[in-house]
Amino acid sequence: MTEQRLSGRVAIVTGAGSCGPGWGNGRATAVLFARAGATVAIADRDGAAAEETAELIRAEGGNCIVAELDVLDLEATEALAARCLESFGRIDILHCNVGQGLRGGPLEMSVDQFRAQLDINVTSVFIGCKAVLPAMIGQGKGAINTVGSIGGLRHLGHDHIGYSSGKAALVQFTRQIAAQYGRQGIRANTIIPGMIDTPLLQERVVKSGHRGDLAALQEEARRRVPLGHRGTAWDVAHAALYLASDDARYVTGTELLVDGGFMTQTV
Ligand SMILES: NC(=O)c1ccc[n+]([C@@H]2O[C@H](COP(=O)([O-])OP(=O)(O)OC[C@H]3O[C@@H](n4cnc5c(N)ncnc54)[C@H](O)[C@@H]3O)[C@@H](O)[C@H]2O)c1
Repeated sequence: MTEQRLSGRVAIVTGAGSCGPGWGNGRATAVLFARAGATVAIADRDGAAAEETAELIRAEGGNCIVAELDVLDLEATEALAARCLESFGRIDILHCNVGQGLRGGPLEMSVDQFRAQLDINVTSVFIGCKAVLPAMIGQGKGAINTVGSIGGLRHLGHDHIGYSSGKAALVQFTRQIAAQYGRQGIRANTIIPGMIDTPLLQERVVKSGHRGDLAALQEEARRRVPLGHRGTAWDVAHAALYLASDDARYVTGTELLVDGGFMTQTV
């Protein structure tokens, strides 16, 4: 059993549903936070997916609420923050899991598509911070986790300039938050997942013919990842739990790679 490392804490997890059956990063993180004792606000634009996560939490005796919202909607995000304060009196953790990739470079993508990529991968986190920072500042404590990607650090053989730029920007965005609000007891860190087996990945494989099937991706991981396999949503969730908890009380403005060592090598 996970220790009660978040006992009495209130956490907002965005994108805590899942885009398909099984464990996405957001869903696993929400469930792990609840197992660790947190009350979790599940924020997702897909109400049914969010409700599924809520049922998993309730079935284990955990506490949660569901908010069907788009992370680009400031008003709805502020309303969720107000609801958390009214119902639970505090907001300790913001875990920004929503992110999305679109294939292509400047010639394949329209300007609007590029802007939308920056919006979903960075502006959404700006909006989340805007909504929760007043409460965290008032408490003199808070932890903000952002979710980057190894695709924001290197070109990995697939062209997605909007996603890569957005995820790269997110790292510096998070450091800025850490620097600006550290003296008010707020920490901010980026989790950088590598090749993780999630429904999102499976959906991408189905959509993008030329990356082959899942078996080919497993083979790619055996070849390219020093630990020899893809990670799971739980690997990301455990990193999120660490960063959200007081175990990481002196850790801020940094990045935690969860990539099986992928970024250590160039082949
Ligand atoms: N799976 C991987 O291999 C991998 C690798 C690197 C980084 N990541 C990052 O992990 C994160 C996603 O992980 P996941 O497995 O939970 O993905 P997912 O696609 O399963 O789920 C996320 C949830 O986000 C919701 N969502 C999408 N857009 C939204 C919006 N605008 N507002 C509110 N909710 C929205 C979806 O409804 C879905 O339920 C992303 O930031 C992604 O870039 C994943």
